[in-house]
Amino acid sequence: MFPTSRQVDHAQLSRVELHVHLDGSLRHETIWELAKKKGLSLAGCETLQDLRDIGDLQAIERIAYEFCEDEARNGVTYVEARYSPHFLLPLDVPPTFEALCEVVRAVDRGFARGENDHRVKARHVLCTLVGADMARDVLKLCEHFRGEGVVGIDMAALAKEDFSTYEEVKEECDEVQIFQEARRLGIHRTVHAGESGPAEMVRRALEIYGAERIGHGYHVLDDLQLYSKCLKEKTHLETCPISSFLTGSVPLSVEKHPVVRFAEDDANYSISTDDPTITGAYLQENYDLLWRWGMSEAHFTRANLNAAESCFLPEHEKRQLVKQLKNIFVDGNSKEEATQDLPFKATAHTRLDLTYALN
Ligand code: NI
Repeated sequence: MFPTSRQVDHAQLSRVELHVHLDGSLRHETIWELAKKKGLSLAGCETLQDLRDIGDLQAIERIAYEFCEDEARNGVTYVEARYSPHFLLPLDVPPTFEALCEVVRAVDRGFARGENDHRVKARHVLCTLVGADMARDVLKLCEHFRGEGVVGIDMAALAKEDFSTYEEVKEECDEVQIFQEARRLGIHRTVHAGESGPAEMVRRALEIYGAERIGHGYHVLDDLQLYSKCLKEKTHLETCPISSFLTGSVPLSVEKHPVVRFAEDDANYSISTDDPTITGAYLQENYDLLWRWGMSEAHFTRANLNAAESCFLPEHEKRQLVKQLKNIFVDGNSKEEATQDLPFKATAHTRLDLTYALN
């Protein structure tokens, strides 16, 4: 049997997840149950987008609530869940601003109940897609719900079959203007870049879109000059290890996964799932994979502190989160020194590592 990383301590949730799609996190059982209730066929359905007929406000609230429960099961104390309100609208409902607001409110009700029952704080990041003509609405929603749960905006590319014309981050399109406006308004910004696309996409996301965080960013390693700039400027990279293999963004043949390289170089990176419905893997499985690659609890500690420091919460809540994590990590280390049979042993080396992680 493979060794696994430290299992979740439910008394002290200590993980922060920054890159997870709510519309890629439905439980398979819930999809099945909702589809049956509505008499829908699931043949040919691959993503929530294909399952939009399932959607209604109650279903959305339920999905958001169950999401929090699953995050708690995986040790998460704070999560930024991203989704496109447009894609959560049932097909027969036109995307008016009020209808989109109702979607955000339904998600928020689920998050509020989830926080109450499972102690997971969840905030919204609203997504737009290149060329999908929804960026203006998304920006408006970010403004409307600022201070009420929505903490940022994200941009992804539409999946393309023809990879020769595939651009994750276009140089010129409506989204550029929207992101520049978001920056002026002080709305936090993350952009999917350098996942399957080249390092140039990361450069564009940072320089043209003013992204504060990069979704994935693995291919930044193809341009070492840009990579060292990211290291110097502490650009946050939201990595999703299992997803990176399953999407083909990082080939299985790779000698050293970019996440391991980021950890070795003390980059500002974090660990997330991306789309558990599609990958079938939750956060614990991602940590287990990294553990098998030789990353230690000290690396995970650092990754979670990175995530907390780079999250989109208001400054005072962010400071609170960082403090909460530091208390847990320092405490956890002293407990483990007295426990011999855990995979994480507080050897002198590990203590050094932990000093590194907490600094
Ligand atoms: Ni993503």
